[in-house]
Amino acid sequence: MSSISFAILRRMALAGVLVCLLVGVGFYFIQERGVNDFVLTLTAPQSDELASSGASRDDQAVYTSILDAVLRRAVAAQVFDNEWNLRGETANPRFDSLREVLTGQTRDFPRDTARHQHVIRTGEVMVIQIQMPILDTTRTQVGILSGLFVVPGRIDQQLQQHFRYALLAVLAAVLLTAAVLYPMILLLNRKVLRAAQDIMRGNLEMAETLGTAIAKRDSGTGNHNYRVCYYALRLGEAVKLDEIAMRRLVIGAFFHDVGKIGISDAILLKPGKLTDEEFAAVKEHVSLGLEIIRPSEWLRAGSDVIEFHHEKFDGSGYLKQLRGEEIPLIARIFAIVDVFDALASRRPYKEPLSSEEAIAKVREGAGSHFDPRLVGLFAGIATDVHREITSLDEGEVGRMLLQKISYYFLFPDKVPLLT
Ligand code: C2E
Ligand code: SIN
Ligand code: FE
Repeated sequence: MSSISFAILRRMALAGVLVCLLVGVGFYFIQERGVNDFVLTLTAPQSDELASSGASRDDQAVYTSILDAVLRRAVAAQVFDNEWNLRGETANPRFDSLREVLTGQTRDFPRDTARHQHVIRTGEVMVIQIQMPILDTTRTQVGILSGLFVVPGRIDQQLQQHFRYALLAVLAAVLLTAAVLYPMILLLNRKVLRAAQDIMRGNLEMAETLGTAIAKRDSGTGNHNYRVCYYALRLGEAVKLDEIAMRRLVIGAFFHDVGKIGISDAILLKPGKLTDEEFAAVKEHVSLGLEIIRPSEWLRAGSDVIEFHHEKFDGSGYLKQLRGEEIPLIARIFAIVDVFDALASRRPYKEPLSSEEAIAKVREGAGSHFDPRLVGLFAGIATDVHREITSLDEGEVGRMLLQKISYYFLFPDKVPLLT
């Protein structure tokens, strides 16, 4: 299973748990409502009694009858008149042991005429602490009832049953929804990723094409660009660059000499050595290259390589004469592979060296031109990488490169790699 489908499943499971939690909270309110109903039945009988007796407000008999009516369920109950004078209290001896258990679990309600209630569960028993106005049939308040009452087991069971049904219904709904949505999400996701891949592949192909066009101009083939990209990739891996640095290195490698587009053929294709003036013009390819890529955010990832690929470790390079670690790592990496490949290639102004000679020459530059640590790493892989590359033709190198680069640009760990 790919990690993307796993991520979707995980999120759906999370959503399911959240919904169930919500149901739990919902149940809390359902429980409150169920208990409310019970509270109404608690006081219903004395409402009738009040009506039939036509009792006046201050009649002690009213309060006594209320206490009698609730006694059956009362762990403890008190009744007050409207001025909060205690007019009677009662307790069912059946709940003596429960009373002790409940001490410390009760709340202090404010002494007002609102209804307050608080559910307490002790083991199997559900107890409700209530403070509520007592109304007669004309809905006139005649007093306040306060106390702890045992909720009948059947009400409790009903509530729990409701809860179980609700939970089951929700679970079923969540699972069904997931079953329907999951394949749809996967499909959509695959389409989106494929579109993103297509665009990214287009970008990479464009980068490759442009880089190749530039390289063709001074070496006759686009191979230089393919090769330096490949070398850069391999050296970057040896250095253990992270994914982001790797992308910057690769884009930089494709476009490192894009500024050469503005250097005249008379200079670039000159068979012999350049004059100081001509070389000064060549140096312009760095700033020109930066200018060319500036409008593109995607290409600006390559700016470190473009700007600093001719800096030297001892500070004698161009354009800024940076030295040592002032030069960005990916530019130090790139300088090595760029020169190595220039040395081992034919140029209008020079014959190629063998790879051994080229490596030897790069080694000579360790500490002066190049970062010596990176030269050491490169020397370890150069012969192999060079052999690998020279065994392939230009088309094969291009395909191999694209395949390898895809790893850093096309999220291969999240989707099956493009074919
Ligand atoms: P390039 O030919 O791709 O060379 C890239 C870099 O590789 C050079 O940067 C240099 O550091 C190194 N390199 C190339 N060939 C040799 C070599 O024979 N010996 C040594 N020691 N190093 C070499 P650099 O010097 O900044 O040159 C930048 C670009 O300027 C070159 O790219 C090339 O396009 C042009 N260029 C440099 N020198 C000459 C030259 O004498 N004649 C012509 N026509 N073009 C030159
Ligand atoms: C190269 O041609 O790959 C590097 C040399 C330069 O940038 O002028
Ligand atoms: Fe260059």
